[in-house]
Amino acid sequence: MYGNLNIYYFTGTGNALAAANWIAGEAENRGVTASVIQIAPSLKAFDFSVGPDTLVGFCYPTHGFNAPPVVIDFLLKFPNGNNPVFLLNTRAGMKLSKLFTPGLSGLAQLFPAIILLLKGYKIKGLQPMDLPSNWISIHPGLRQKVVDSIFYRCEKITKRFAAKILDGKNVFKGLVSLPIDLLISPISVAYILLGRFALAKTFIADSHCNNCLLCEKECPVKAIVIKNERPFWTHKCESCMHCMNRCPQRAIQTPHLFVAIIWWLVFLVLPFFILKELFQITPESAQYYNLIFDIVTIVTGFPVIFFSYRILHFLLKFRFFSALISYTSLIRLKFWRRYFAPKMYLRKN
Ligand SMILES: Cc1cc2nc3c(=O)[nH]c(=O)nc-3n(C[C@H](O)[C@H](O)[C@H](O)COP(=O)(O)O)c2cc1C
Repeated sequence: MYGNLNIYYFTGTGNALAAANWIAGEAENRGVTASVIQIAPSLKAFDFSVGPDTLVGFCYPTHGFNAPPVVIDFLLKFPNGNNPVFLLNTRAGMKLSKLFTPGLSGLAQLFPAIILLLKGYKIKGLQPMDLPSNWISIHPGLRQKVVDSIFYRCEKITKRFAAKILDGKNVFKGLVSLPIDLLISPISVAYILLGRFALAKTFIADSHCNNCLLCEKECPVKAIVIKNERPFWTHKCESCMHCMNRCPQRAIQTPHLFVAIIWWLVFLVLPFFILKELFQITPESAQYYNLIFDIVTIVTGFPVIFFSYRILHFLLKFRFFSALISYTSLIRLKFWRRYFAPKMYLRKN
């Protein structure tokens, strides 16, 4: 069917790359030349010419019920064309006893698909893939046995999907959960507007950091800079979890108590106080109170989050404060496993 396959991928902890490699392997078995290309801020989409007989694929994780902003940005810059295209978003797969539980896509496929449709591409496949959840800020990494069994299952599903797409068929498994995806779409929008910045500002390096600079070097979006001899997460951070899962010293933390207090202020107390005390607006007096509340949250939330992160970063200089902050992070606990896709799946073509 196709002469070439170009798969563009973004990954934090390897899942999307593993899926891209499985699809590329399937293509090569059929004599299709496959290229697996990493989406990075330095990669300009328009540098890539896509030939007429090229099948184009995008593999990326789901972040906040959406595609990561770096992927959306890349798609917006992607040249117009009429090639067949597929999208595969990796999600937070888990396993409860023998039951594999899926993640949730939200707009992670729909939004990129609309962008590509508007650019003239023909959507051939929408496929979610429930690879192990990597979100170790909120839960410990899955046990190796569980990771292995999720990978075993997903490899088979991905290869089946690839075979159908390479045979020229359409596969729209991603649309099965459309009602739920649309229902949670307001959260996807909130994540893009504010949530992702709030999350990016939850990372710190505690006193175990030995300045090896691996996090800075390996950050897929070059969001980490060194300030006061410590890693500092800029607003470009995608919260992809690469740094936290890779740090050899296990020094990267989310100080949960501190974060909970700041978020409580930003998302609840501050907008409520501003509306009530400064503008005398209450749920009873304003028809669109919820909308006004959300707008005030976004407008006031940005400066508070950015400013409090700077203060936090400054205070980390002091040993007592650093110990206190690190003590409020669940991630420092010994049993809190890290997660990365097994190495054998990360070989790039
Ligand atoms: C900040 C963040 C947000 C996430 N949001 C979602 C989500 O909305 N839905 C979901 O199913 N999984 C979500 N996940 C889980 C990842 O999408 C999932 O583990 C994915 O397979 C990771 O792929 P990667 O290793 O290629 O980065 C999220 C993970 C992170 C770190």
